[in-house]
Amino acid sequence: MEDLFEFQNVCYRYPGHKQLALQDVNVRLPEGEKIAVVGRNGAGKSTLFLHCNGLYRPLCGQVLFRGRPLAYDRASLKRLRQQVGMIFQNPDNQLFSASVAQDISFGPLNLGLSEAETRRRVLEAAEMCDIIHVLDRPTHSLSGGEKTRVALAGVLAMQPEVLVADEPLASLDPWMRLTFFEILQRFYDRGKTIIMATHNLSVVRYWASYVIVLQAGRVVFSGTPKELLTNRVVLEQTELSRVWWKVDPGFDEETRAPATSPGAEDGRLKETRNFHFGEDGDWSI
Ligand SMILES: Nc1ncnc2c1ncn2[C@@H]1O[C@H](COP(=O)(O)OP(=O)(O)OP(=O)(O)O)[C@@H](O)[C@H]1O
Ligand SMILES: [Mg+2]
Repeated sequence: MEDLFEFQNVCYRYPGHKQLALQDVNVRLPEGEKIAVVGRNGAGKSTLFLHCNGLYRPLCGQVLFRGRPLAYDRASLKRLRQQVGMIFQNPDNQLFSASVAQDISFGPLNLGLSEAETRRRVLEAAEMCDIIHVLDRPTHSLSGGEKTRVALAGVLAMQPEVLVADEPLASLDPWMRLTFFEILQRFYDRGKTIIMATHNLSVVRYWASYVIVLQAGRVVFSGTPKELLTNRVVLEQTELSRVWWKVDPGFDEETRAPATSPGAEDGRLKETRNFHFGEDGDWSI
């Protein structure tokens, strides 16, 4: 697995705050994978993501993209953001144009595409995200879920190499979640990388091919879902065992540990890799 991003000894502190939001983060984000990033509220997921598109700059250490340290001049950041599409946790921080259509057009026009090609991409992305009917609306007048859809459409219209999505599921209805996972699958099938922060452990288990666990600003685990699910020490240390065993039939309630090696003997993980999200009705934890 080639690294798409590599964080080397990264730390970050928000201006005016004493506490480090990221502490000595060393982690590789492999290319072409479906990466789930998990951790409790305040663990540092969003802060990590905002380093991926250069919006935040490490206080110490460095971030590498495809083996090269990020550069923070305007031109480099523009190039990076054309390849790294980001859906912010709060889409209000992302949508700024007068109308939805203008917002989705912003990226393609910035890429230097023609008006005709831009229009084609906007319509295609809007169709995929089912927001054709709001294209003329001002972005501020949309509902939370509609804003997330517009943010997704804006990213898709750019056709980036990487999709970084910060808890996109929270505001999407179950129908759009299904569509969202279909869109992600198409993206993944083209060899692209998805990095998604989520609190939904079913997504970690059944969707992700790689998982990163953050705890208090540190990366405490990175590896496959199977490696996480069978690592009792990490599950206990992160307290994932407290919430996971209750919802996961693969867990032994007595020991609060995986009853079997998921995916090894019983082929569960393999089978559920093709899991069609939403079929098991397990949305809540
Ligand atoms: N704008 C900010 N100013 C100051 N501190 C911040 C800011 N944003 C986040 N923090 C702090 O940085 C730490 C990491 O926050 P971050 O938003 O990255 O967590 P998170 O894992 O994304 O949490 P959540 O699950 O709630 O989205 C927390 O201690 C948080 O209080
Ligand atoms: Mg967050």
